Amino acid sequence: MSETVIELKGLTKRYGYGDTESFALKDFDLTVKRGEFIMIMGPSGCGKTTLLNIIGLLDRPTYGEYELNGEDVAGISARRQAHLRAKKIGFVFQNFNLIEDISILENVALPLVYIKQPSTIRLKNASNALDRFHLQEKEYYFPGQLSGGQQQRVAIARAIVADPEIILADEPTGNLDSRSSHLVMEELKAIHEEGNTIIMVTHNPTLTVYATRVINMLDGHIDTDIKTVEDHNLPQPVSVKFNKKHKKKRRKH
Ligand SMILES: Nc1ncnc2c1ncn2[C@@H]1O[C@H](COP(=O)(O)OP(=O)(O)OP(=O)(O)O)[C@@H](O)[C@H]1O
Ligand SMILES: [Mg+2]
Repeated sequence: MSETVIELKGLTKRYGYGDTESFALKDFDLTVKRGEFIMIMGPSGCGKTTLLNIIGLLDRPTYGEYELNGEDVAGISARRQAHLRAKKIGFVFQNFNLIEDISILENVALPLVYIKQPSTIRLKNASNALDRFHLQEKEYYFPGQLSGGQQQRVAIARAIVADPEIILADEPTGNLDSRSSHLVMEELKAIHEEGNTIIMVTHNPTLTVYATRVINMLDGHIDTDIKTVEDHNLPQPVSVKFNKKHKKKRRKH
């Protein structure tokens, strides 16, 4: 059975009071298994970014439960949230969110500062992550010297460099042409096939071919939720696969 990584129950996000009261999320339930690639769609203002920000521990629900790897994280301190975020979550945003006045190598190395890796190891790991996206020869460039598609691939390298449990992407192809979108999606697909869990918001229905599950939201709740891959067929983390093989071999002797 696939492991549950995220469990949301009765999640509600309210803005304002009385006459100005509105709900970005209302009584929202969701269970995410390891290895799912979930695409979230829905009209502007239906709560997609609010949901991603709460899952990413950048925002808190007004009420409701949130368990991340079995730990109740809805009510924990901001410090603990920041620690968990650095260790377990990688973000990719529509507008790349790279820091303009440092090299792309230093941008990719940033999440490793928060998990306290020594600086020489940080830069080596960041360089390896850029290599994976064929951007190593540009590692001393600044973000402004790269195309939009290249900047988004740098942002994906930054999202995965600390080996997070979950990758959250809010319209990662929203600012890209179709060729760059395709390259970015192929990178996310490769990351997913290694057994990573991805939750991505998109307005582009053609991208749902990459998903194992498509959720349509409406007014702060789930309208439709369709799994195209069954839980037992989801990709497994590479190390888990290795252990399984190892066990099988041992059994033969
Ligand atoms: N800080 C805030 N104060 C008040 N209302 C807010 C705030 N942030 C978001 N909202 C409201 O919550 C609702 C959901 O916003 P959210 O950004 O999650 O939508 P979205 O689905 O991501 O939309 P889009 O597709 O345009 O990005 C909207 O009605 C928005 O106006
Ligand atoms: Mg949004």
